[in-house]
Amino acid sequence: MKRIRQAAIGVASLLMSYSASAQVEVSVSVDTTKPGPKIERAVYGQFAEHLGRGIYEGIWVGKDSSIPNVKGYRKDVVEALRKIKVPVIRWPGGCFADDYDWRDGIGPAAQRPERMNKFWGGVPETNAFGTHEFMDFTELIGADAYVAANMGSGTPREMARWLEYMTADGTSTLAKERRANGREKPWKVKYLGVGNESWGCGGEMRPEFAGDLSRQFGSYARLHGGSAFRVASGGSADDFNWTDVMMERAGKYFDAISLHYYTIPLDWGTKGQATGFPKEEWGITLRNAQALDGMLVRHEAIMDKHDPEKRVALSVDEWGTWYDQEPGSTPGFLYQQNSLRDAMVAALTLNIFHRHTERVKMANIAQMVNVLQAMILTDKERMLLTPTYHLFDLYVPFQGAIPFPAKVNSPRYIEGDVDIPMVDASAAKDANGKMWLSLVNLDPNKAVRITTDFTGKAKGRMLTAAKIDSHNTFDKPDTVKPVAYSGRTVGGKLVFDLPAKAIAVVEIN
Ligand code: AHR
Repeated sequence: MKRIRQAAIGVASLLMSYSASAQVEVSVSVDTTKPGPKIERAVYGQFAEHLGRGIYEGIWVGKDSSIPNVKGYRKDVVEALRKIKVPVIRWPGGCFADDYDWRDGIGPAAQRPERMNKFWGGVPETNAFGTHEFMDFTELIGADAYVAANMGSGTPREMARWLEYMTADGTSTLAKERRANGREKPWKVKYLGVGNESWGCGGEMRPEFAGDLSRQFGSYARLHGGSAFRVASGGSADDFNWTDVMMERAGKYFDAISLHYYTIPLDWGTKGQATGFPKEEWGITLRNAQALDGMLVRHEAIMDKHDPEKRVALSVDEWGTWYDQEPGSTPGFLYQQNSLRDAMVAALTLNIFHRHTERVKMANIAQMVNVLQAMILTDKERMLLTPTYHLFDLYVPFQGAIPFPAKVNSPRYIEGDVDIPMVDASAAKDANGKMWLSLVNLDPNKAVRITTDFTGKAKGRMLTAAKIDSHNTFDKPDTVKPVAYSGRTVGGKLVFDLPAKAIAVVEIN
């Protein structure tokens, strides 16, 4: 009997030592002697376009709606957005911006003209949400305004008058008109975009023409009482030539040029599904998200050639996942579900931005509500917070923090022809001197043990879920949400046990 018990103990300890050695070991070391330029809060910006149910229903329901609202804005959405400290909102587009006449969206709502939203479903645009509604919304949320001016079909004079309407004080006729429409004080337009995707929906221009036109528009983009941070319309993904020509022709008239990068699992024709996707598409999507890092390196090298002092910033003012829209949803509305995979893409992308703070001073996820990689989905009076929302919530401490290089010694995650590091990390110190660490295990099957060179205590929250496409629905809105999480000390060092497909953000004391 004794012998049997001893044998059983032997097998158990063998199994224990086997499972300990099978544990995937990763090390993360943070170089606190090398602080980088600040992670600008604006890197956590968002994008709200007149597209599908993004503005109407998603943000604006009107004062007479039975849906609880604050002066026409959905109360639940406003509260949720305030919680994640949205620093900046880009509006009114997107493609919509280059077909927008600002005069359509001012004055008594009943007298505003109805137009057709040509880019997004050809649906009626009532203009119920215009300049006043947007600028007041930014104030309600506590965000800065990033106004996208029409360069594709508008004139420099229209843009200049719009700016005067919003920002002039004194006796200007446009300032008086604004007051007559209900806004006494000028608003602050902190950021101004000049054109959007000028190579595509914003005018199908060649970079040489867009560069020259941007100079012209840029020189009329004057505000009353200071100047906006001016962003020229940049290229998409790996269009390095656009960056080169735009920098050469217009760089010195702007504070930033933009870059758009969407993470698409397959291709622009069949993009792939938001949920119910095959397991290979998990890895492909994350690999495609990580590809942004290398693209930024190349765009930045081109910018360095024209601007070695790094005066001109890069504004990644559209980024996020883009899937085939939800079956049964209105064509052209770009409504898609949002799963744990989207939170992973957001974590990897934000970590990339943390590594590129020398140039990346603003970024805007596409989009805020009900469109593409949304924070929030709504269905009449119901609302849900997506995994991407929870990720942004976890990452709030990184807004305005000072990043430090994190060296990750990680095995690879290999699936088909996907071969990427299994673990990603980011570390930064906030304004109160607290160190924050983000750890991402993107392997969907294997847990990891991450040993850091930090000492002390680590507490925070973690986001994970049972399946690679776990998501929240209106009936089950809490399937994916953060849980409490902490590290432990082993041999004097902080160690983190992270399950498969999980993201943790901890404060280190
Ligand atoms: O975000 C949706 C669309 O994607 C934007 O309107 C456009 O700029 C981009 O092509």
